[in-house]
Amino acid sequence: MTSSINNSLIRDINLAPQGKLKLDWVKAHMPLLNTIEEQFKKEQPFKGLKVTICLHLEAKTGYLAQVIQAGGAEVAVCGSNPLSTQDDVVAALVESGITAYAWYNVTDEEYHMHINKALDFRPNAIIDDGGDLVSILHSQRPEQTKEIIGGCEETTTGIIRLKALENEGKLQFPMMAVNDAYCKYLFDNRYGTGQSVWDGINRTTNLVVAGKTVVVVGYGWCGKGVAMRAKGLGAQVIVTEIDPIKAIEAYMDGFTVMPMIEAVKHGDFYVTVTGNRDVIADEHFDVMKDGAIMCNAGHFDIEVNKNDLAARAVSVREVRKNIDEYEMKDGRKLYLLAGGRLVNLAAGDGHPAEVMDLTFALQALSLKHVVQNSKSIGPKVQPVPSELDRYVAYLRLETLGLKIDKLTQKQEQYLSSWAE
Ligand SMILES: NC(=O)c1ccc[n+]([C@@H]2O[C@H](COP(=O)([O-])OP(=O)(O)OC[C@H]3O[C@@H](n4cnc5c(N)ncnc54)[C@H](O)[C@@H]3O)[C@@H](O)[C@H]2O)c1
Repeated sequence: MTSSINNSLIRDINLAPQGKLKLDWVKAHMPLLNTIEEQFKKEQPFKGLKVTICLHLEAKTGYLAQVIQAGGAEVAVCGSNPLSTQDDVVAALVESGITAYAWYNVTDEEYHMHINKALDFRPNAIIDDGGDLVSILHSQRPEQTKEIIGGCEETTTGIIRLKALENEGKLQFPMMAVNDAYCKYLFDNRYGTGQSVWDGINRTTNLVVAGKTVVVVGYGWCGKGVAMRAKGLGAQVIVTEIDPIKAIEAYMDGFTVMPMIEAVKHGDFYVTVTGNRDVIADEHFDVMKDGAIMCNAGHFDIEVNKNDLAARAVSVREVRKNIDEYEMKDGRKLYLLAGGRLVNLAAGDGHPAEVMDLTFALQALSLKHVVQNSKSIGPKVQPVPSELDRYVAYLRLETLGLKIDKLTQKQEQYLSSWAE
């Protein structure tokens, strides 16, 4: 503990008691991680290893770091977003022996300094969220890639970056595509993002949603959840897409589909969740209704083009915590939440604990899988084995007290035969 306190760079260690309360609260709602923590204490799968974790540092991720530590690892953490770190949780982690390089509202320079410090820790395994650890290792610290046995990636954007690296033949160690497991995207991206985005918007704006028009930009796994919950809150929902199949899906789910240049005439709220850049940009701001509120739930703050917005503004001011008002030349006022960063994490507490229990059970078990099978997997983006995905689903059913049927022998035979 003394060394973690001495080596860490954090806001204030005195915040630890408050952070510990937050950790205790989520631990009481993450039964899968409780079970895995007990397994890891006995098995010690990470004994002798150093693990660097780059995630949104709040209580649920904090608990994941402690579970990896319980498995025998020395752990260092850094933030995966300038605005999602909770200083009290980080202080509690440091007090529990984890080395941390993170504080809320870092500058770009501090953000990269923290990631580099977490890599100076010389990890043998990593957990990444959005691909920054992997990107810096491969571009700026290539000699260090030899030391990495393997790692796990948390989110869609990170997987896209990893696959680009793999396709160029440059990926140097195995990375588990945790985001692509069923028990991740079906629940975390859809229900987690769906609920926590509206929690973030509602607590930040304190405005009514019912009767208003919400534009959901991107109908992927996150977008489906955001649109579903907007409908539940009583909004009229418009979806914009670039994929014809997703567009039909949105239409058949009961939503109005149109291009963004049309949607901007109608929206009161905008949620971008594409993983793409500039999905609200340029002339969109010229047509937007007075009072429109924009926010982003995709990984990076590039979905709403802030430069284009600022270039059209005669003034910008923070009118409420996490709400910037941009006054246009014609007097219209447009609002951007949390500086265009993930609204559910930068202006909220992230996904509900029970949802992250599934995701982080997968993370913990996938990390164990990759360190134990690194050689046979090789340097590639590896799907989470379906047995592991199903094991996590069964564990969740058990904690919910739900039972399901089993295939009979006859049914199993039937499903694996081709003859009549
Ligand atoms: N906020 C969170 O807590 C959270 C959680 C999980 C994932 N994410 C992030 O959210 C983003 C989306 O993740 P996902 O799992 O839904 O991805 P996804 O690939 O399932 O969906 C993205 C969708 O956006 C669409 N799209 C792309 N460009 C577009 C454009 N210009 N206009 C309209 N639609 C466009 C794509 O066709 C696709 O349907 C990623 O950056 C991911 O990392 C955030």
